Amino acid sequence: MIGKRIVDALNEQVNAELYSAYLYLSMEAYFHDAALAGFANWMRIQTQEEVVHAMKIYDYVVERGGRVVLKAIARPQVTWKSPLDAFKAAYKHEQKVTGLINGLVDLAIKEKDYATNSFLQWFVDEQVEEEASAGDIVQKLKLVERAPGGLFMLDKEMAQRVFTPPAVKGE
Ligand code: FEO
Repeated sequence: MIGKRIVDALNEQVNAELYSAYLYLSMEAYFHDAALAGFANWMRIQTQEEVVHAMKIYDYVVERGGRVVLKAIARPQVTWKSPLDAFKAAYKHEQKVTGLINGLVDLAIKEKDYATNSFLQWFVDEQVEEEASAGDIVQKLKLVERAPGGLFMLDKEMAQRVFTPPAVKGE
């Protein structure tokens, strides 16, 4: 049976992942408004990934016999000064999420919940990727800042991102 402190903390993380989805959905709308469909596509995929993260935790809580309790999702920011500003915010947000995951791992160890600690390792690895992909785009946006047509080319590259649904359990 899973402990109450762990269930409460995992429920908080479900909320944090759904907020992440909401934030990136808001960024997608900002990019549509800026006529940058490729960047908007990237954000749509990111939103889908965040929903997957939330559902992974949701399913884990259920599997361990815990009770999922959903909370209000905070209103995200709706506009940014520039694409670079938006991606800097995304990068900073991912760093914050990494901190939350690390805090959950600390709690699982403290509570001697080794199963939850093991479950969370997927998220530890995922956050390395999450920070790297947002950070990489921040660097690219800095590079094209003064290059005419650079943003247009980068938008085309961002249009290539596709969503890969996670493998179904047991496959
Ligand atoms: Fe769910 Fe972007 O971390």
